[in-house]
Amino acid sequence: MKDESLFWNNMAQKYAAKAVPSQEIYEEKLNLTRDLFKADMKVLEIGCGTGTTSLIHAPNVAHITGSDFSAEMIKIAKDKAKTKKVTNVKFIQESVQEMDYPENKFDVIMAHSILHLLEDKKETLDKIYKSLKPGGYFVTTTGCIGGIFKIFKPLWYIGFKLGKLPYLGFFTKTDFTSLVRESGFTIESVWSPTKVDLFLIAKKA
Ligand SMILES: C[S@@+](CC[C@H](N)C(=O)[O-])C[C@H]1O[C@@H](n2cnc3c(N)ncnc32)[C@H](O)[C@@H]1O
Repeated sequence: MKDESLFWNNMAQKYAAKAVPSQEIYEEKLNLTRDLFKADMKVLEIGCGTGTTSLIHAPNVAHITGSDFSAEMIKIAKDKAKTKKVTNVKFIQESVQEMDYPENKFDVIMAHSILHLLEDKKETLDKIYKSLKPGGYFVTTTGCIGGIFKIFKPLWYIGFKLGKLPYLGFFTKTDFTSLVRESGFTIESVWSPTKVDLFLIAKKA
């Protein structure tokens, strides 16, 4: 796909209206993340979509930057922040490819349901590592559809080549965990709430 943000622009309204697949799993992820937060922390969420997670966490930290390359997703996120009168979250339209934050800037970086959509996953993990403070946390939910799910790869690839679907990486939970380690992180905890999803917390040494 030439400009994948267009795919997500078209999805934005539907995405905003859709309930999470499991409220129980979502709540548990929020709780595990909340345990890492302190009132003075600076947080980044990449691929924040319509901003739900950033807005929920806003009362627990000093500031959150929520970024996403889809203008429509960011518009909805900004509207929600305004309606909820949340003032310590800044939503910006930015792709992970253009993201260039200084070293040691953030205490926590979140990336939920985005890393499997990136051809340059490893580069992104390296950037996340760089811009975290020493002792900072990386929190991610990543769709790991290697193994048996690889049977869908040819079909997805056709959709991708025809410009109908965004890029989708096919890798296993083990592959992904290894890649996170290769970027320098220590894995703090892993949880597999579903066959596909891996919820992982990693720490910068
Ligand atoms: C599946 S949605 C997940 C949204 C949100 N994190 C959540 O968990 O509900 C993926 C999001 O990643 C964004 N995204 C995909 N590729 C991106 C990129 N290269 N740079 C920035 N955002 C990207 C999309 O616009 C979309 O909002």
